[in-house]
Order: sequence, then C-alpha cells, then structure tokens
Amino acid sequence: ASGCKIGPSILNSDLANLGAECLRMLDSGADYLHLDVMDGHPALQGGQFFCKHFVPNITFGHPVVESLRKQLGQDPFFDMHMMVSRPEQWVKPMAVAGANQYTFHLEATENPGALIKDIRENGMKVGLAIKPGTTVEYLAPWANQIDMALVMTVEPGFGGQKFMEDMMPKVHWLRTQFPTLDIEVDGGVGPDTVQKCAEAGANMIVSGSAIMRSDDPRSVINLLRNVCSE
Ligand code: DX5
Ligand code: ZN
Repeated sequence: ASGCKIGPSILNSDLANLGAECLRMLDSGADYLHLDVMDGHPALQGGQFFCKHFVPNITFGHPVVESLRKQLGQDPFFDMHMMVSRPEQWVKPMAVAGANQYTFHLEATENPGALIKDIRENGMKVGLAIKPGTTVEYLAPWANQIDMALVMTVEPGFGGQKFMEDMMPKVHWLRTQFPTLDIEVDGGVGPDTVQKCAEAGANMIVSGSAIMRSDDPRSVINLLRNVCSE
C-alpha cells in the first residue's frame, strides 16, 4: 500500500507522563495517536446496571483526552479506540474533549447506523472495529458510511500480545471490496509483522509495544512506514 500512516498506541507508555509520551511519539514522526479507551464501569440504563464490560482492563476517559488536547495543541490527530460497552455514551464528551475520530466496536452496539450518524453530527470521523472472532461480513454493510475499518489482530484488552496472522484475509477482503476505505490493524504489529498487514491492504498501522520498547522510536516508526508503503 502506498502512503501508510503510523499511529503509535500509548497504552504501554509511561502513563504517569502521558503528555510527554505523546509528544515524544509526535516528535518521532508519528502520523497520528491511537488512544485506547477501556471501560470497567457499569452503565445505568432503564434502572438496571449492565455489568458487562467490553474489556477486562481500564485505561482513561475523556478528561484525559481533554488534557492531552490542551497540552498538544490542535494539530495531532486523535484516533479514539473505544473498547467500551455502550459506546453511544461517550460520543459527545469525546468530541468536546477534542477527539478527531471515534472508533467503536461493532460488537458493542445494537444500532451502528444511529451511532455513525451521531459521531458525524458531533464532527468526528467514524472508525468501526471488529474483534478477532467477528467475521468481516458484519462490517461490510457499514463500510460505505465509515471512514476507517479497524481489523483487530489481537483480542482487545492489553498491549504486547502476539499478532494473529489469520486476520489478514479480513483485511484483504475489505481492501478488495472497498478500495478507498482506510483500513487499520491493531495488535502485535511491529517490524516483523507490518509487511503482512501491508500486503493484505492495511494503510493505517497501530503499533504499541514495538515502538514503546525501543530506545529509538523514530527509526521504528520510519521502518514501519517504509515497509508498509513499499
Ligand atoms: C489492544 C489495544 C492496542 C494495543 C496495541 O487492546 O487496542 O492498541 O495497545 O499494542 P501492541 O502493539 O503492543 O499489541
Ligand atoms: Zn487499540
């Protein structure tokens, strides 16, 4: 694919210095920031608590995004990866906080159409994510209404997991059906696995631990971009 964009995931960064870590990524040539939001809080609806969380981990929410936006200025593109139940709940708060793209999980909502509309009305781009167990046919009906499809290459929840190569047929199928759609991969992507993603047709590359663990993030970001854009 030509013109791949690299979005570091700051999940495995030094979260006590999140602003500095984001700046370090941008200074190292990151095209955008992939910000992983995970739930862990039940939402009240119709007098009943839903205690079903989307992932077994908690990260941060819109107040942190608001602080990052203040610190980093208007330029950096924030791709919010919303690993939460009831993603409807956070559209407006995230828009107000300064998010540019709202990437929600198809598995987490009963009404993707309404959610897509709401995200647009709040001025954000729309990303639609699927977990490894979700087949790509479920995403296809929405593909013409979204800006980006995210094909997860690990089970969402944690950084540093092993890349699932058997997700590549999903990417390839989407690329064939929707030639101009942005396709993002997320999970276990680094110098050893990016080529497979690129060959399948991904053009937005999320990479967490491979970049964070390096002493030289700039060279890893450059490498990922060069391999992907070949
Ligand atoms: C996993 C997150 C990913 C994660 C990627 O649930 O969505 O964004 O941080 O980290 P690596 O690249 O280490 O798998
Ligand atoms: Zn992510």
